Amino acid sequence: MRQRIKTKIRKHLGWTRLLGAICDSDKGVRSLSLAGHVGFDSLPDQLVNKSICQGFCFNILCIGETGIGKSTLMDTLFNTNFENFESSHFEPQVKLRAQTYDLQESNVRLRLTVVNTVGFGDQMNKQESYQPVVDYIDRQFESYLQEELKIKRSLHNYHDSRVHACLYFISPSGHSLKSLDLVTMKKLDSKVNIIPVIAKADTISKSELHKFKIKIMSELVSNGVQIYQFPLDDETVAKVNTTMNGHLPFAVVGSTEEVAVGNKMVKARQYPWGVVQVENENHCDFVKLREMLICVNMEDLREQTHTRHYELYRRCKLEELGFKDTDSECKPVSLQQTYEAKRQEFLVELQKREDEMRQMFVQRVKEKEAELKDAERELQGRFEQLKRLHAEEKAALEEKKRLLDEDQSSFGKRKAAAQLLQAQSLTANGKKDKDRKK
Ligand code: GTP
Ligand code: MG
Repeated sequence: MRQRIKTKIRKHLGWTRLLGAICDSDKGVRSLSLAGHVGFDSLPDQLVNKSICQGFCFNILCIGETGIGKSTLMDTLFNTNFENFESSHFEPQVKLRAQTYDLQESNVRLRLTVVNTVGFGDQMNKQESYQPVVDYIDRQFESYLQEELKIKRSLHNYHDSRVHACLYFISPSGHSLKSLDLVTMKKLDSKVNIIPVIAKADTISKSELHKFKIKIMSELVSNGVQIYQFPLDDETVAKVNTTMNGHLPFAVVGSTEEVAVGNKMVKARQYPWGVVQVENENHCDFVKLREMLICVNMEDLREQTHTRHYELYRRCKLEELGFKDTDSECKPVSLQQTYEAKRQEFLVELQKREDEMRQMFVQRVKEKEAELKDAERELQGRFEQLKRLHAEEKAALEEKKRLLDEDQSSFGKRKAAAQLLQAQSLTANGKKDKDRKK
């Protein structure tokens, strides 16, 4: 194992080329042979020691319908009991539950995060099932990118939560993939390493399983779904990986129950008709999955996540923000140039917006002025009209007053005349009475 890590590191660092003393004349690099031991051949060991000291982290996402056997498989894979919660079939939307554990095997520490879907496939609308998963994966990439873009980065002690492997649990129907499976895997294949597994493979017969595997693979190919292929570039594992690629999707059985088989206790599922042994390769592909996922390709899964999936996310994100490596004439553009160009673009845009705002303001003022003038004119008109009405009313009242005054004076005259007549008649009547008495 240690030897494999060293080989891999050597390959990455280009030591094979350096130590092989091949002259790279194209780049003008000369190779020299050493007269004696110098010591830099210990670099791979130094790296291994450093990695062991730092510890590793690995994140697995389990996608599958409620009750398909996700938690049982995780417990079986890591030979432990993780915290498990049974999900209900009535979740309005898919949720993701992430739990992180610190594990240790020999002197290697592993920070393992197991993310489980809750309520996957229980919704009427398929988008409600896969979208939360897509969003979760993107969120982990985004927080890594944010850490990377910080001025004070602390990536060495940053808890990397990017998903390294996605176990997609296929229901053992023996029929075909569901449209939800295809849509989800298609949405995820550029974001994560998908390893499809046929869950509860003890419920399907051997011949049906064989046909089912072929059907699944052909459906994935015809729908252009890219699943994770075990790598063939490392010659130490190329052979086993080639064979295992041919066994995909792995048909798995999970169980933490120990059953006596012969004189040994083995992990198995016991039925009235027999025992399904989890670690028996004639019964299921559990051992193949464990070998491929944990023992052989864990580091490649981590590497692919960083160099392929995260790189794609980062590139799209930075391009969205307007950063690019080359200009329209394919000349390299530095970050400083992009920043300056963006700043200039921003200033021009700002100026344009300012001018627009100013013009709009002037226009609004003019409109308001015209409105006010109209209102003033209208008010003036109404005032004139009222003034006219008032003058007319005043004249009419004055005329009325004059007529009343005339009436009043003629009434006064008539009253005085009546009073005089009355007084005269009274005087005449008094004289008559006196004469009669005499
Ligand atoms: P949720 O988290 O509630 O969505 O369920 P899950 O997908 O984690 O399923 P879980 O592991 O809780 O298993 C659900 C049931 O399926 C349990 O009764 C398990 O014993 C059973 N089960 C798990 N793995 C297998 C398997 O490989 N074969 C069979 N036949 N049953 C299994
Ligand atoms: Mg579960």
